[in-house]
Amino acid sequence: MKTSIKTVRISVIGFGNVGGGVAEVIKRKREEIARKYGLNIKIVGIADLKGVVVDENGLSEEAIMGLHTGDKKRGKMADMTTVGVIKEIEHEVMVEATPTNVEDGEPGLTHIITALESGRHVVTSNKGPLALEYKRLMELAAKREKELRFEATVGGAMPIISLVRENLAGNGILSITGILNGTCNYILTRMAEEGLPYEHVLKEAQEIGIAEADPSKDVEGIDTAVKLVILANSIFGRNATCKDVEVTGITEITPDALQLADDAGYVIKLIGEVDREGCLKVAPRLVPQEDPLNVGGTMNVATIKTDLAGDITVIGKGAGPIEAASAILSDIISIYRCR
Ligand SMILES: NC(=O)c1ccc[n+]([C@@H]2O[C@H](COP(=O)([O-])OP(=O)(O)OC[C@H]3O[C@@H](n4cnc5c(N)ncnc54)[C@H](OP(=O)(O)O)[C@@H]3O)[C@@H](O)[C@H]2O)c1
Repeated sequence: MKTSIKTVRISVIGFGNVGGGVAEVIKRKREEIARKYGLNIKIVGIADLKGVVVDENGLSEEAIMGLHTGDKKRGKMADMTTVGVIKEIEHEVMVEATPTNVEDGEPGLTHIITALESGRHVVTSNKGPLALEYKRLMELAAKREKELRFEATVGGAMPIISLVRENLAGNGILSITGILNGTCNYILTRMAEEGLPYEHVLKEAQEIGIAEADPSKDVEGIDTAVKLVILANSIFGRNATCKDVEVTGITEITPDALQLADDAGYVIKLIGEVDREGCLKVAPRLVPQEDPLNVGGTMNVATIKTDLAGDITVIGKGAGPIEAASAILSDIISIYRCR
């Protein structure tokens, strides 16, 4: 229980599923966070393509909902750009949750650079800037003595980066192997369980919102590759990009292949692997049915091989607004716990 309370003002840049989830968890957890960690987290600015709302004293629920629903009458839209919010509104932490773009990292890259240069800590769920410019962004954060945290970019709610850095401190990390894309896991699980062809299950996944209208980044393994690059750079000290990853997706997997695997005591999973010898690979692989990596549905999983602790496996929800917001909230709190 904390007796002194520190106010932490945040901006939320990108107010879709994840940004909305962040507002929701802060609303739900405000009192508990103040009691346990001595932090009074206030959202002072939100920006997305619909507009901008700001209030340096903390935005009201009405203003937040007004932006969420596009109902401009409910919240007073500020005459300000997204970059203006990051630069001009006084706050401590910028949460970046705009869409991932692995071509040039934008608009997230500009948002993160602007925030660090304006003296804000950054917490992001956006994979693009981290996968493309990890070294440059970390150097900028260090130069400005600010934190740049990104747990939500890999595995959503499932802790990997903070687990390695904090709980496994002192261990050498030999490799990380896992399922980092829930859409592919869902498709392969349904195909194996029902003996259904890939196209059929993909369509079903699109209908229930598990796969996007353009599923190519997921099913071709690119999303997993981007996450591996973030792990390679942040945990193994590499300077990798997506071009360094050997990638095969799941589009060629047939129900017959899954059946043959099952007969031999295996499942087929889209596995990402990064190790300290230089392996950086995404491919469908045979996984023994009793292996901890054999998780079904949309779940994510990662086995972290260490030199002292042995193998540690984490399983969790890799996507979802509240799940991603859980990782973001944890990153925000941890910035202040170690200061
Ligand atoms: N969804 C998940 O479960 C999950 C999990 C982990 C990580 N992530 C990552 O988190 C990020 C956000 O995901 P999401 O699912 O929340 O996406 P989303 O629902 O598409 O939301 C993206 C938001 O960014 C806004 N935006 C786009 N361009 C912008 C700009 N230039 N300036 C300000 N706002 C801008 C959009 O505005 P409009 O609504 O006005 O278009 C929208 O509000 C992505 O990078 C994603 O890869 C998502």
